[in-house]
Amino acid sequence: MLLSRDAQSAQPVAIQREDYAPPAYWIDTVDLCFDLDPAKTRVLNRMKMRRNPEVAAQPLRLDGDELNLARVLVNGQGAAFRMEGSQLVIDGLPDDFELEIFTTCCPAKNTKLMGLFVSQNTFFTQCEAEGFRRITYFLDRPDVMASYIVTLRADKAAYPVLLSNGNLVEEGELPEGRHFAKWVDPFKKPAYLFALVAGKLVAREQRIKARNGREHLLQVYVRAGDLDKTEHAMNSLIHSVLWDEARFGLPLDLDRFMIVATSDFNMGAMENKGLNIFNTKYVLASQATATDADYANIESVVGHEYFHNWSGDRVTCRDWFQLSLKEGLTVFRDQEFSMDLCAEPSARAVKRIEDVRVLRTAQFPEDAGPMAHPVRPDSYIEISNFYTVTIYEKGAEVVRMMQTLVGREGFARGMTLYFERHDGQAVTCDDFAQAIADANPDSELARRLPQFKRWYSQAGTPRLAATGHYDAEARTYTLAFSQSCPPTPGQSVKEPFVIPVALGLLGADGRALPLQLEGAAQPAGESLTLVLHEAEQRFTFTGVDEAPVPSILRGFSAPVVLQFDYTREQLLALLAHDTDPFNRWEAAQRLALGAALAAIGDDTRAPDAPVLDEALIAAMREVLRHPTLDAAFKELVLSLPSEVYIAEQLDVVDPQRVHRVREAMRTQLATALFAEWQQAYEDNKDTGAYRPEPVSAGRRALAGMALANLCIAARESGDTVWPGKTLQRFKDASNMTDRFNALTALVVAGHPLAAQALARFHAMFKDEALVIDKWFGLQASAPDRDGDVLPLVKQLTRHADFSIKNPNRARSVIFSYCNANPGAFHRLDAAGYVWWSDRVIELDEINPQVAARLARALDRWSKLAEPYRSAAREAIARVAARPGLSKDTLEVVSRALA
Ligand code: ARG
Ligand code: ZN
Repeated sequence: MLLSRDAQSAQPVAIQREDYAPPAYWIDTVDLCFDLDPAKTRVLNRMKMRRNPEVAAQPLRLDGDELNLARVLVNGQGAAFRMEGSQLVIDGLPDDFELEIFTTCCPAKNTKLMGLFVSQNTFFTQCEAEGFRRITYFLDRPDVMASYIVTLRADKAAYPVLLSNGNLVEEGELPEGRHFAKWVDPFKKPAYLFALVAGKLVAREQRIKARNGREHLLQVYVRAGDLDKTEHAMNSLIHSVLWDEARFGLPLDLDRFMIVATSDFNMGAMENKGLNIFNTKYVLASQATATDADYANIESVVGHEYFHNWSGDRVTCRDWFQLSLKEGLTVFRDQEFSMDLCAEPSARAVKRIEDVRVLRTAQFPEDAGPMAHPVRPDSYIEISNFYTVTIYEKGAEVVRMMQTLVGREGFARGMTLYFERHDGQAVTCDDFAQAIADANPDSELARRLPQFKRWYSQAGTPRLAATGHYDAEARTYTLAFSQSCPPTPGQSVKEPFVIPVALGLLGADGRALPLQLEGAAQPAGESLTLVLHEAEQRFTFTGVDEAPVPSILRGFSAPVVLQFDYTREQLLALLAHDTDPFNRWEAAQRLALGAALAAIGDDTRAPDAPVLDEALIAAMREVLRHPTLDAAFKELVLSLPSEVYIAEQLDVVDPQRVHRVREAMRTQLATALFAEWQQAYEDNKDTGAYRPEPVSAGRRALAGMALANLCIAARESGDTVWPGKTLQRFKDASNMTDRFNALTALVVAGHPLAAQALARFHAMFKDEALVIDKWFGLQASAPDRDGDVLPLVKQLTRHADFSIKNPNRARSVIFSYCNANPGAFHRLDAAGYVWWSDRVIELDEINPQVAARLARALDRWSKLAEPYRSAAREAIARVAARPGLSKDTLEVVSRALA
């Protein structure tokens, strides 16, 4: 089929949220029959359709992409149709009709991994957001929900397992060694939730009885050798089922719930109804191959996809601008799930700190860069580019603020109302916020709902500036707040947000002071939440007997940048005494950040001059030695702010300077606390029989951090004992966390022993793809010494195990270098940027989604100091000038250059 000239030459068009119109036709049922063949899969699609009487009569326009069209029948008769670009258009249809479309496609050549593709001789699908149109012509939009019947036919020996959504209703033999399976999904769904899997797979199975008494079959499908790595995923799934029922009253609605793992996948996982498809990275774990972080990620991703069964599948999005309706809510739910699984309250706080760290190091830069967009965007060229930390993580913070404003019980009531009102519908972010507010009519949320919803419409990270004034005579303390939000692309002026600010006041001895807000009838205890809604607001506390230290934005109660001119003494007091673990950690981050920024701004600074002063080192020492703080928390406090986070605080960034200062801080902490690191290592190195739970994981993390510091200190002193011990630990380790931490310690310190450890590691795990990803990733993200990382990275891409077509492997080398190693990537000779542009161009022809992610590595180019700035711009322009670029990558680089 020839494309029209127009379609070939057309500039990609932006889709506008305001242009939403309901579909002109509905699809009631879809009967799909697949003859699966890697080279040529035949798809027979029979749909019962009807005109939408609420919309003016118009031709039917079906979406398609890279399909070979063989036949179109309307009510069994050959029908006239035409192609407009990639759309199939049919005029003159009756009000009700059956439409039959026969197409073929080539899964083996599908390197984009969207639609139907083959990975290791197994068929998989990925349809979100717009992949279903690569399988058949369809109304590929989430507000068209249909009932699906799916028949799969394939060679029985090559593809013994045939899966699709819902229930298996029939299976049997066919001539010529083929067989079939027929699946019926009892729920209506949008096309993006369709899935099929066919191949040689085995399953771990578990029958469970839910709290409500219903029985379910849970299955985790993997390749034959991987079955022993599925226990944790299965346990996570069982916990997810029980948790959603207990916390939100949302039961599993299917007899059978399947997870299938594939090693070729663009994203983390996909919530197809009843048939979740996962990146192996978020399914497979054994103590020998997976770290504590891997175990924790599996738990949250399994939870996330499972929770989508309600927040996404039962109630879905009206259009893709509403993506955060399901993603923000579901991230919030998986965060709460992981917290609720923590046995210790301190582990909950650790989880919260980790989540905030992701938000601030990934989402805040996005919100300040060329791709900044509201949680509910107004326009896009390629929707795949909007599966972002803003939609996901900031979206989750918006939901979290709602919970803060209505309380935990109130929020649960709101969820119940949301699902009662909208079950089976495709709805909007407004519908969600309305349900939470309506269930809590007396709340601050209900009172200020239209203003609260600016969190959905306005991009950018608000700045919240606060000042405190103590009046000794009146015994009052006044906090004055002023909020503002920087302009973002397309939004120059911002209106004030509703900002919940949780806070407390500390006395000089560190004790919490009782809070009595002027004008409030009752004292508030030791912590309260102010709800800001004006550009400037002040609050006075009465009966305050001494100048307090304010602990503001406890638990990170809103996704804002809090600017408060803390003195060093105040921060040290918060670090020592705050009862809010988040702000306790935050105090240490502010202290380290302040030291880093001062050193970076000091033009007279000698390269190896100390960055941290004695008081801060003493405070860190105290944390490390602390008898009751737990290890995970200590590890977070002792972690220095990342180079990316430091860079975000600067107007003009010299990445090499940031890198040198941070390395100097790290060396200083390593040497100054040598004795404490030794002690921390001894105290935490043995965690007994491996169990992937937060408390012992925290101890392993601290032991690993201690080893890394001991190796750095050894590098400075010439000591050989600790590197030797580290190598021994690497060899003897009984779990991947300890082994990988030891390996990392040697690599990060740049010790000569790292080479043999890396070689041994590769030999040990050569058949474990996910471990080999770690091996690549560690080397590509190693601290740069005299520009040695780029040549190494180039060499790694020539390694026999490297393949740019496998997204996990591409990420492990290319992304680890370009996105996670600023000190090595930003080179004075611009060779990192040139290499980046080559890889974006190379990837774009294979897999535009992955290329467009990589294209974002230079999002923040305009902040760079010269000569980096000009060189980065040139590299982006080089990509943008490439003819035939995908709209995915084109959108990213055009925005960067705009
Ligand atoms: N809905 C999936 C999740 O968050 C993400 C799938 C996105 N896939 C894509 N190709 N854009 O769980
Ligand atoms: Zn999701």
